[in-house]
Order: sequence, then structure tokens, then C-alpha cells
Amino acid sequence: MKVIVIGRGPIGSAVQKKLVAAGHEVLWVSRRDGIDLTDVDGLRRYFASVGRFDGVACCAGEVMAAPLALSTDEQWARSLRGKAMGQIDVVRAALPHIADGGSFVLVSGVLTDERMHAGVIGTTVNHVVEGFVKGAAAELPRGVRINCVSPTVLTESTAYHAYFPGFPTVDAADVATAYLRALSNPTTGRVLKLHRTDG
Ligand SMILES: NC(=O)c1ccc[n+]([C@@H]2O[C@H](COP(=O)([O-])OP(=O)(O)OC[C@H]3O[C@@H](n4cnc5c(N)ncnc54)[C@H](OP(=O)(O)O)[C@@H]3O)[C@@H](O)[C@H]2O)c1
Repeated sequence: MKVIVIGRGPIGSAVQKKLVAAGHEVLWVSRRDGIDLTDVDGLRRYFASVGRFDGVACCAGEVMAAPLALSTDEQWARSLRGKAMGQIDVVRAALPHIADGGSFVLVSGVLTDERMHAGVIGTTVNHVVEGFVKGAAAELPRGVRINCVSPTVLTESTAYHAYFPGFPTVDAADVATAYLRALSNPTTGRVLKLHRTDG
């Protein structure tokens, strides 16, 4: 498969590595390459320039933490624009160019199901992403599929650990395995959860 991986953080890095190890061709991009989730016209130009590809693995999307009572207009707007609408726009912009039977994988996160202090924006945004995946799966043409990977806090993301006391972590490599599973198999409309609630 020829797969576009968006995002160079720990998840994107692990996904890129996993896909290359599995023998796939990877185009690895992020904002620093001029591929910005918040610029839908730029996304359209980019996907048109690539030609045909078989998959898009989105491993990016800014979302901010803030207590509800103190959260600002900008924090809400940036998070909804970044991680939610940004990923939706990736699918809308790539759809004319992805191959028949191609596959999209988006990213949400544990805050869909679990609560953390100041996590209300993350919870909201992740629900938008997962809702889009379920709705889009029913409408995508030409056998194109879409799924979502929902990791808990990563083992590698130590800066976030203090915000997730008592949450078992997941290794980025295991998250990448879920991306590979979603890209490679005939599943669609699924949320692949990489979180445990049993301690
Ligand atoms: N880390 C975790 O514990 C964790 C857990 C659950 C879910 N997630 C979700 O997984 C996603 C990736 O997280 P991560 O920790 O691997 O990476 P990250 O540290 O959030 O890094 C973000 C990466 O995404 C790129 N990026 C950010 N905004 C972008 C935009 N508007 N357009 C294009 N690229 C953009 C950045 O590109 P540049 O470097 O080029 O700016 C960077 O490579 C996020 O949506 C996050 O909410 C993360």
C-alpha cells in the first residue's frame, strides 16, 4: 500500500516505522512540510499532487486542556478546528484521490470514555471525531473505509502523565499496530480502543 502518514509526534513516528517494516510505501508529512490540517485548500492541493494512494493515517490534531469555567473562545475554536474539523477536512480533501477500497484512519483518544481534570475540550473533540468516523463510514463511496484509533496516554508522552493519574499507559508501537490493523483489514466505522479501565 501507498500510505500518507500525517504527524511526526510519537504516534506518527511509530505508525511510519510500523508501516515501513510491514513493507508499505509511506509518505510522511506534517505541518513543517506545509501540510496543515487547518488549511483545507492546502490539503486539497497536496492530495491532488500525490496522485493515487491507498491510505491516509492521521496522527495529528491540536487539542487543548482547560477547566470548563476558565476555557477561552480561542481554546475551543483552535481545538475544534485543529483535531476535529482538521481531520474531517483531511478526509474531504483526500477522498477524490484515494484509491478504490482505500482506507482512512483518524485519531481520537481515551477522553471520549474517561474523564480527567480540565479534559472537557478533549472529550468533546474526540466525540466529534468518532461521530464523523461512524457517519462517514456509511457514506464513503467505492469501498473506501474509515476507522479511528483511540489511544490512552502514551508511555512515551511523559509530560502528560501527571494529568492522567492512575491511567495505565500504552506504548506508541501498540497504537501503531492498531493503525496497521485498521488500514489492512476490511473493517469500517470502528473505533479501535487502546485503553484499559481495569487498573
Ligand atoms: N500523546 C498521547 O499520549 C496521545 C494520547 C491519545 C491521543 N493522542 C492524539 O494523537 C494525536 C497525535 O499526538 P502525538 O502525541 O503523537 O503528537 P503531538 O506531540 O501532538 O505532535 C503533533 C504532530 O502533529 C503535527 N501537527 C499538529 N498540528 C498540525 C496541523 N494543524 N497540521 C498538520 N500537522 C500538525 C505536528 O507537526 P509539526 O511538528 O510539523 O508542527 C507534530 O508532528 C493528537 O491528536 C493527540 O491528541 C495523543
